[in-house]
Amino acid sequence: MTQATVQTGKHLLGLKGMSETELASILDRAAYWEHAPEKVTPLLTGKFIANMFFENSTRTRFSFEVAEKRLGAQVLNFAAAVSSVQKGESIYDTVKTLESMGIDAGIIRLKPNGVLQHLANHVRIPLINAGDGSNEHPTQALLDLYTMRKQFGAIRGLSVSIIGDIEHSRVARSNLWALQAMGAKVRLCAPENMRAPELADYAPYVSIDEALDADVVMMLRVQLERHEHGLISTPEEYREHYGMTVERALKLAPHTIIMHPAPINRGVEIDDELVEHEKSRIFAQMANGVPIRMAVVERALA
Ligand code: CP
Repeated sequence: MTQATVQTGKHLLGLKGMSETELASILDRAAYWEHAPEKVTPLLTGKFIANMFFENSTRTRFSFEVAEKRLGAQVLNFAAAVSSVQKGESIYDTVKTLESMGIDAGIIRLKPNGVLQHLANHVRIPLINAGDGSNEHPTQALLDLYTMRKQFGAIRGLSVSIIGDIEHSRVARSNLWALQAMGAKVRLCAPENMRAPELADYAPYVSIDEALDADVVMMLRVQLERHEHGLISTPEEYREHYGMTVERALKLAPHTIIMHPAPINRGVEIDDELVEHEKSRIFAQMANGVPIRMAVVERALA
């Protein structure tokens, strides 16, 4: 079991610009926590952490809560839907309110892009990004890299295809930055109207058939709630052209794994039969979210 340490006392706003050494130190520390003999440790006794979700979540919110409790922290859960946000209070005033009550760190999920950096500039506590707009979802990408490293032993040299609604995907962006920093080859695949043109400067867009030739195929959720105009004509048509169908899965190399950050639109970006298929690592990704978030919370506070 590795005894790697992580740098502490810092925001985690995104993975763009993070070094391979720092990324690896977080993955190493997650491996330590995954194999820790005790389920709960008193490392963060006396620390108060607020999970501030201004947008819905299941996996990220609950795995942060499990991670915080396993580290011995006191956990406060804020949900915008039942808060004074409904009376018109701003994100900024909400975060400053919780900070004034003495929390030691904040986990924050936001719908708009660009707000997180402003908040980080105006609070004294470390903030951890739990997904902001279409910008970044750093802990999702970290757990994805952790899943890949467990599968293949290393990230360097891997070929990873990210397929689907790239334009709206913070998961795609965080994975792109981290995978490239750690030496993986990334390719993107998306319908014309779901591409993020600026990302073509970093990774090529390829056809779905080319994308299947990879060590990892990462399917993305079609983010219907972020589509201002209908970007897909029908779910059936999207599945036919860009979905991981059973037929396409048969074309994958024997060693290739299928990933998806979830939640899943079964029968749209991935066929129902593949979600728990032996090639799928979808539920392993969720399990890996806990040790990754333990490492990240420790990095912020310990
Ligand atoms: N992958 C992910 O972020 O899931 P949630 O939206 O449920 O947190």
